[in-house]
Amino acid sequence: MKVAVIGAGTMGSGIAQAFAQCDAVETVYLCDIKQEFADGGKSKIEKNLGRLVKKEKMTQEAADAIVAKVKTGLNTIATDPDLVVEAALEVMDIKKACFKELQENIVKNPDCIYASNTSSLSITEIGAGLKTPIIGMHFFNPAPVMKLIEVISGANTPKETTEKVIEISKTLGKTPVQVNEAPGFVVNRILIPLINEGIFVYSEGISDIEGIDTAMKLGCNHPMGPLELGDYVGLDIVLAIMDVLYNETKDSKYRACGLLRKMVRAGHLGVKSGIGFYKYN
Ligand code: CAA
Repeated sequence: MKVAVIGAGTMGSGIAQAFAQCDAVETVYLCDIKQEFADGGKSKIEKNLGRLVKKEKMTQEAADAIVAKVKTGLNTIATDPDLVVEAALEVMDIKKACFKELQENIVKNPDCIYASNTSSLSITEIGAGLKTPIIGMHFFNPAPVMKLIEVISGANTPKETTEKVIEISKTLGKTPVQVNEAPGFVVNRILIPLINEGIFVYSEGISDIEGIDTAMKLGCNHPMGPLELGDYVGLDIVLAIMDVLYNETKDSKYRACGLLRKMVRAGHLGVKSGIGFYKYN
C-alpha cells in the first residue's frame, strides 16, 4: 500500500511514522507546501526512531528501513497513493483546496481513498463538491503511540470506504471506532471542554497550574493534567475546537475561557511555541 500524508507538522509526521512502521505499507509520501517543511517532518520521524534504537526497542537497520519508506516533497509527488491522509492546517478552505488539487490534478489512481485528520471540522463540508467523497481518519497525538483512530463518516461517505478505512486502521495496529459526523466527534467533544474547564479553574484562582494538573493526574489517573495536555495539543487547536463546538451548537457550555483566547492571541500556544502554561526549551 502507498500512502500520502499531506502536512508534515506534528500530526502529519506522526501519522507518516505510524504508516511507515507498518509492514503492509511500502511508501509514504510526506508532503507539505515547502520542501523544507516536509524534510523537517521526516527529521522528526528519524529522531523518534532514534530514541527507540537508543532504548534498544528497535535495531538501527529496522529504523533505517522505516525512514527509507518516507519520500518527502510537495503535494505533486503523490501521484499513485492508495490512501491520502490530509493533516494540513485546520482551515476549511485550505483542506477543501487541497483535496480538489489532489483529485483533479495530481492523484492518478481512481480507487484512491481520501481521508482527513481534521480534529473537528465537518467531513461533509470538506468533501462537498469533490469528485470522490472523503472520510475522517482522526489520529491522536502522539500518533505513533496512541491506539485510537476515530473513523468518521460524512453524509456522502460510501459504506465501502468506511469499511476499508476500518480495515486499514486495524492493519496499522490501531483500534478504530466508527463515529457519525458531529462537532468534535467523540473524543474532542468530551476532552477539549475538559481542558477548557481546567483553564477556567486556573483563571478563577481555585488552584495553581501544578495543583490542577496533579489533582487530575492523581485523582483521575489521567497521564497528563488538563493544562499540560492543552500545551501538548496546542492552545490554538484547543481554542479552534472550542469555537467550532460553540458555533455549531450555540450552547454556552462550550464557550472558550477568556484566558485561553488571550494566551492564543499572545502567541503562548504551548509546547510548539516554547511557552503556554509551562515553559519549554
Ligand atoms: N512520538 C512518538 N513516540 C512517542 C512520542 C512522540 N511524540 N512521545 C512519546 N513517545 C513514546 C515513547 O518513545 C515511549 O515509547 P516506549 O514505551 O516504546 O518506550 C512511549 O511513547 C511513552 O513515552 P515516555 O515514556 O517518554 O512518556 P510517558 O510515559 O509520559 O508517555 C505520552 C507520554 C504517551 C504522551 C503520555 O503522557 C500520554 O498518553 N499523554 C496523553 C496524550 C493524549 O491524551 N493525547 C490525545 C490528545 S488529543 C488529540 O490528539 C486529538 C486532537 O484532535 C486534538
